[in-house]
Amino acid sequence: MRAQDLIAKKRDGGELTADEIRYLVHGYTRGEIPDYQMAAFLMAVYFRGMSAAETTHLTWAIVESGERVDLSGAPGVKVDKHSTGGVGDKTTLALVPLVAAAGVPVAKMSGRALGHTGGTVDKLESIPGFRTGLSPAEFIEQLRRVGAVIAGQSRDVTPADKAIYALRDVTGTVESIPLIASSVMSKKIASGADAFVLDVKVGRGAFMKELSQAQALAEAMIGIARLSRRRAVAWITSMEQPLGCAVGNALEVAEAIEALKGEGPRDVEELVVALAGEMIYLGEKAADPGEGKKRAAEILRSGAALAKFRELVAAQGGDPGVVDDPESLLVAPVKADVAAPSGGWVAAVDSYAVGLATMALGAGRVRKEDAIDPSVGIVLRKKVGDAVRPGESLATVHARSDEEADTAATAVLGAYSIESQPAKPPALLIQRLES
Ligand code: URA
Repeated sequence: MRAQDLIAKKRDGGELTADEIRYLVHGYTRGEIPDYQMAAFLMAVYFRGMSAAETTHLTWAIVESGERVDLSGAPGVKVDKHSTGGVGDKTTLALVPLVAAAGVPVAKMSGRALGHTGGTVDKLESIPGFRTGLSPAEFIEQLRRVGAVIAGQSRDVTPADKAIYALRDVTGTVESIPLIASSVMSKKIASGADAFVLDVKVGRGAFMKELSQAQALAEAMIGIARLSRRRAVAWITSMEQPLGCAVGNALEVAEAIEALKGEGPRDVEELVVALAGEMIYLGEKAADPGEGKKRAAEILRSGAALAKFRELVAAQGGDPGVVDDPESLLVAPVKADVAAPSGGWVAAVDSYAVGLATMALGAGRVRKEDAIDPSVGIVLRKKVGDAVRPGESLATVHARSDEEADTAATAVLGAYSIESQPAKPPALLIQRLES
């Protein structure tokens, strides 16, 4: 086999076999195929696409490039969740303990913030002492003992994805559905779960701005699950405006704790209960997603999900006191309100603009190696559909300095559209797909 022949085959619209894809992926990971040939192959995929079978072969070639987490030591059907990334998306923080409290073990490997979107690992690290760098033995031991664990992605899992993603980043080949779908699903499969719930975000603050793109990505990921004999449910959900009110690491942890108390924003609760219902269903603790949702709502109300979160925090070295006093996390020195310039109804809150403003405050990263400030961020006081009076607070900025607060306040103001007619909030849950 020669790489140049496989590049030409894909360039001309041919369908590659599992062996051919494995040859390219493993050859590249071992350093035997140079960057320029892999880059040419990725560009051919970008233009020609891949069949469901090819996308699945690519996923498995990436899985085989590294270690796989073995969760068989913990009993029950293990269900994992993935979000394609959003602004204010603290769902995982509430979802994992909630689903675990329903008796479905959840072993979650999560990422860090990059660009305008946040990352679960950074959010959890705003809890004093919380450790996300667990060894494989610690990971599985906690899953067995607590039924829930959230850690950073292990370095030994899917090394091919890391190498290929870095190359895509500098060769204009990130925005390819089969490349994104195989990248996501390879990490999920290698992380060892039996079934997956996929939250595919669409809208201004999402990776996928158009519904058709989000549908294509959801279908590609569900296709991989189906051909890999894994159960999966995908939900396409709106990221037109930020999820909930808090955007920023400690602020989002505090809001997730509110949600676990049943006192969170309505949209956070709606999404958490819907996704938890699917996970409880896939974890075989409910006959259908509707029953799963009912069970999830009951567990939230009972306080069992909050108790499980406290247990998870303590198990990973974090201070469980924050669960009872989340305000103790909110320590940014400057708090500034953003006043509405006119009255009316909020018609839009641009989640991309809010995400960028939060990143500029220090809550996110421009480059992978940047440090983040857990305390800073933005709390929305008004969301789409809310009435607003002139001078009323639209949002509160939590900043390190007055200058940074002013810059963020200007950006937040630009993110809001206020109109004279009442506006309806966008539907959160848009479409469901199942493998
Ligand atoms: N997230 C991933 O994990 N992979 C991609 O290719 C894009 C987003």
